[in-house]
Order: sequence, then C-alpha cells, then structure tokens
Amino acid sequence: MLKKVNIGVLVSGSGSNLQAIINHIEDGSLDAEIRIVISNNPDAFALERCRIHHLRSVLVDHRKFDSREICDRHMIEILESSGVELVVMAGFMRILSLEFFRAFPRRIINIHPALLPAFPGTHVQHKALEYGVKFSGCTVHFADEGVDTGPIIIQSVVPVYDDDSDDTLSARILKEEHRIYPQAIQYYAEGRINFQGRKVLIDNAHRLTEQSLHNPPLTRF
Ligand code: GRF
Repeated sequence: MLKKVNIGVLVSGSGSNLQAIINHIEDGSLDAEIRIVISNNPDAFALERCRIHHLRSVLVDHRKFDSREICDRHMIEILESSGVELVVMAGFMRILSLEFFRAFPRRIINIHPALLPAFPGTHVQHKALEYGVKFSGCTVHFADEGVDTGPIIIQSVVPVYDDDSDDTLSARILKEEHRIYPQAIQYYAEGRINFQGRKVLIDNAHRLTEQSLHNPPLTRF
C-alpha cells in the first residue's frame, strides 16, 4: 500500500544523503515528505541545504542539555509534533538513548558506509582499506540500541582497488549511499518491509542477475 511517508531527518554534517533524499522527492521518484530536519551541530552544511530547499530545520545542540535523555526527549517532542512516522539518520553522529528507540519502535533507519556487520563504528572506510578487503560498500539498517547492529534493509557492494585511498573509497561508497537510502525509504513508503526475527524481507524484491562478483576479476576459471 503506497502512501507518502512523513520523515524526520537527523544530521550532523555535510548532508549529502539528505540532499539525495531531497532530490528524489523533488523529482517525484520518492514518495516521502520531509517534515523536519534536526541537527545537533550548528555548523552542519546540511542546515544550509534546508535553507536552500525551504525545509523546516531546527538545531538541537546536545551540549546545551544536562543529559542525553533530556536532549532526546526534546527531539522526540519535535519529531512527534511534526507528524514524523519514520526517523532517518543521515550522518547523525550521536548515540540515541533507549527512550528514543522506545518512542519510535522499528521506525528509525540509519546509513553506514560499510558492509555490516563488518566494520561498525567510525572511520570504517579507512578500516576496510587497512584490513585489505576486496569489496566494501554501504548498508541501510533499522537502528537499535547497539552501534550499527539493527536489521539490514538494503546493501550495496563496491570493489576496493589496490591504489585506493580513504578519499577515493569513501567517494565510491558515498555515491552508492545516495542510491540505496532513497530506495530504502521508498520500500518503507510502499509498505514492502517485513520482519522475520532480526531479518528484513522486502515484498516482491527482484533477484540480482549477477550470481557472484570477483575482485580482482577471474582470468581463467
Ligand atoms: C556518510 O558516509 C554516512 O554513511 C555516515 O556519515 C557520512 C555522512 O555523510 N554515517 P553526509 O553528511 O550525508 O554527507
């Protein structure tokens, strides 16, 4: 059942994922409405993007609150009074309290620039490079009380090349983030997301054509 989903976006930095969501809403390919954008960082460029696209945004500077719980309670009020159904964490660099997860059960999603469960946490593109993996990528998942541990909705895989730097790998992954995040929100808007234990199943999801990928590519076998 397709209906426009009302989202609230949490940001801390540049906001390129927010921009990808805005672009897909504006070109009509994403059935969502951004009701509010919340930043914990007054200098986040994401706030400038909101100004350019005439989106409601608010600064909730966590340093101004006595505790994480009090700060999160304030954010919960803003999101609920804005009619938010789905909370979208887009480069939001703060850990949320239990109370926040209880206020939006299975209604908070996050994007992570690695193939979870590998490389949770921060600086993950660098960690993947240092580890020497041949593929990396990004993951959209439901957020839960753990760090990058919630049920996975969609992932994208990218090759890691021998001459990659943190920047070249991060750029290749970010490009994919901007594709899978709007897709994950669209699945939610279409009501196609189901849970089976900790697994997420997408109704009528297409199957990949490629059965496998190799990096470096096979030469003979
Ligand atoms: C992205 O790589 C995202 O996966 C991570 O933080 C980065 C933020 O990017 N959580 P932006 O602010 O959306 O440009």
